[in-house]
Amino acid sequence: MSRRSTRTIHVDLGSRSYDILIGQGLLDDIGNLVKPFTGRPRAVIVSEANVAPLYLDRVAASLRSSNLSTDTLVLPMKGEALKSWAGIRCITEWMLQVGIERNDLMIALGGGCLGDVAGFAAAVHRRGIGYVHVPTTLLAQIDSAVGGKTGINVKEGKNLVGAFHQPRLVVSDIAVLGTLPDRELRSGLGEVVKYGLIGDSQYFDWMERNASRISVENVECMHHLVSESCQIKTQLVVSDETERGRRSLLNLGHTFGHALECAYEYHPRLSHGESIAIGCMLALNLSVRLKLCDVQLLDRLERLLKSLGMKSRIGQIDMAMPSYERIWECMKQDKKVESEVIRFVLVRDIGDAFVSASVDPEDVRKVVERSMNGR
Ligand code: GLY
Repeated sequence: MSRRSTRTIHVDLGSRSYDILIGQGLLDDIGNLVKPFTGRPRAVIVSEANVAPLYLDRVAASLRSSNLSTDTLVLPMKGEALKSWAGIRCITEWMLQVGIERNDLMIALGGGCLGDVAGFAAAVHRRGIGYVHVPTTLLAQIDSAVGGKTGINVKEGKNLVGAFHQPRLVVSDIAVLGTLPDRELRSGLGEVVKYGLIGDSQYFDWMERNASRISVENVECMHHLVSESCQIKTQLVVSDETERGRRSLLNLGHTFGHALECAYEYHPRLSHGESIAIGCMLALNLSVRLKLCDVQLLDRLERLLKSLGMKSRIGQIDMAMPSYERIWECMKQDKKVESEVIRFVLVRDIGDAFVSASVDPEDVRKVVERSMNGR
C-alpha cells in the first residue's frame, strides 16, 4: 500500500474542524503534516514508556527535517494510570517549564489513555493549545483519537474530569498496528464490531466475509477497519459534538460492558474490547427479548465474534464470576445513569439503534443471567 492510498476523513465542526489521515508510513511525514498547525517552528511530543522506544525517534526526526524544533516528554505511567491527576500534573508542569505558548502545538503519541490525558492537558494549558493525535493502538485509532473527548479518571469514577477539546489533526499510521499484541487487537475489535452494528449493513457484511483475514499483518484489512470505523464515528460526532443525543449511540454495549469491567475489578484478563463485545451481545439479547429485533441478528453477531476469536457470553470469561447483584450495582454506578435511570442503547436492526431509559430491570436480569449461564 503506497502513501497515495492515504484516506482523509474530514470532521466538519465549523471552526473546530479537522482531518483524520489514515495511511501507511505517515509517522515519517509528521513534520510536513503538522507544520500548517504550528504558530512558530516548534512542536512538542508527549508520549508513553511503551511507545516511545518504538516510534519517538522517528517522529522527532521528521519534525526536525521539517525545521521544527522539539522537546519530548515520556510519561512513566502505563495504561489507565496515565489518566490521573499525576499524569495531568506531569504534562502541564513540564509544558510550563519548557515554555509552551498558546500558539505552540503538542503531539500526543501513544494509545488511548495517553491521548486522553495529553488532550486534556492541551485543553487546560494556558486555557487551551492545539494538539495532534498520533494514535498507536487500534482502539485509539478507531475511537478515542476521534471526537475530542479528553480527560482523566478520579477515585469517584472513570472519565469524570475532562473537557471536549478537538485535535487539529489525527494521524493514524496503520503500519504501527503491526507491532500490536493479539490481545490489543482483540480489544480494538470489540469496538469495531459495535461500529458494524450502529453503522451500515455493508460494513457488517464485510466483517462477516473477512473475519478470518483480520490480523495486524493484513494492512488492507486494518486500513479498511480503521477508515470505516472512523467514518461512522465522525458522522455521529459531527451531528452531536458534545453528546446530547445521537453520539450516545456510540455507547452500544457499554452499559453492560463497563459493568462487567467494574464487576471483574478491571482485571487484565478481561480487556475493554472483550467486555464491549459481550456487552453488545447483551444489548442485542435485550432487544430481542423486548421484541425490537430479530433473533437472526443476534445469531449473526455471535457467529462473527466467534470467527474473530472473541467471547460472546459472560459464562465464557475464564475467571470467578461475580454475582448478578454485583453486576447490577456496577450498572447503576455507570456515568450514563441520569436521575437514577439506567440508559441502554437498543437495536432494531443494523444501523437502527436508539437509547431507551425505560427498560424493566427484570428484563436486564434475565438476559444477564442467561449470559452468565453461557446461553
Ligand atoms: N467513545 C465514545 C465517544 O467518543 O463518544
